[in-house]
Amino acid sequence: HSSSFRAAPEDLDRSKDGINADVNWDELGFNLVKTDYMYVMRSCQGGKFTSGELNPYGDIKLSPSSGVLNYGQGLLEGLKAYRKKVGNGFVLFRPEENALRMQRGAERMCMVSPSVQQFVHAVKQTVLANKRWVPPYGKGSLYIRPLLLGSGPILGLAPSPEYMFLVFAVPVGKYFKDRLPSVNLSVSDEIHRATPGGTGGVKTISNYGSGLKAQVEAKYRGFTDVLFLDSVNKKYVEEATTCNIFIVKGNIISTPATQGTILPGITRKSIIEIGRDHGYQVEEGLVSIDELIDADEVFCTGTAVSVTPVSTITYCGQRFQFKTGVETVSHRLYNTLTAIQMGDVEDTRGWRM
Ligand code: COI
Repeated sequence: HSSSFRAAPEDLDRSKDGINADVNWDELGFNLVKTDYMYVMRSCQGGKFTSGELNPYGDIKLSPSSGVLNYGQGLLEGLKAYRKKVGNGFVLFRPEENALRMQRGAERMCMVSPSVQQFVHAVKQTVLANKRWVPPYGKGSLYIRPLLLGSGPILGLAPSPEYMFLVFAVPVGKYFKDRLPSVNLSVSDEIHRATPGGTGGVKTISNYGSGLKAQVEAKYRGFTDVLFLDSVNKKYVEEATTCNIFIVKGNIISTPATQGTILPGITRKSIIEIGRDHGYQVEEGLVSIDELIDADEVFCTGTAVSVTPVSTITYCGQRFQFKTGVETVSHRLYNTLTAIQMGDVEDTRGWRM
């Protein structure tokens, strides 16, 4: 490809040691910061992915008739790399899970996907090429965004003849901008995120775009984010625009089961395991709005949001309050999860790479 550029070893070396001085590491939010390199891999026409390369971070060339631009044939992923506390190197959290999720999404969207090995290799290359952008230990992480795009040209609706796999990375801190330790959600009773048989259970780019209207309206009314209800009964809790939801009542932690309309979060899955290890009874099933309102605690999980407590939920004009702070179940789970992710405790489950 004419615009591609293989980074010379000395260029990669340039970013070897340091931590970039142009970033105020204490002020990191979840904003786009342009880093040095992105990984690009293209499938051959009608075929699989073979090999990719690092390119300088920048705009990509796409056919105006590409499948992604015309028919939304696109998937995204999200994972984080952490700088180790001692010694050199970085920790990735369960990257194979992201690779497998992309493969399941690609199957639903009739796309060609990279192998788990290709996916993980691309992620590692992207982190190493951008290592000066990985925040110092304890200040945040390098958020890695893999994309799978139907890049080949088509006109009638059909799977794209070619695919592009891209990985870029951005240093991030806390997701919710107001940086409050907890968030306020409003329940959306008109706009729904997903329907049975649809694509709510896979990480398509369109799942996020379709949540924007509800999110923008909620933010305008002073809420942090929206909580979606199921589109059939309109009484079961599904998820927020960017994260899964959990409720705590006594010793029981509940979260909606992933049956097609809920994104199977990797943080969600990890928290279910950690919760059980801590002795809680963790249930996956239907979670009604009534159970939610009656909960002691509510919290969100996601790669970007980590474990974020919910302090209030507004439903049908009524505001309900939940316990937050250091004495909560969610705080305990958050501490355990982040200790594993940052390499502070032994990795008994093999979640770190
Ligand atoms: C993530 O948490 O990684 C996501 O993909 C959600 C995104 C809206 C930031």
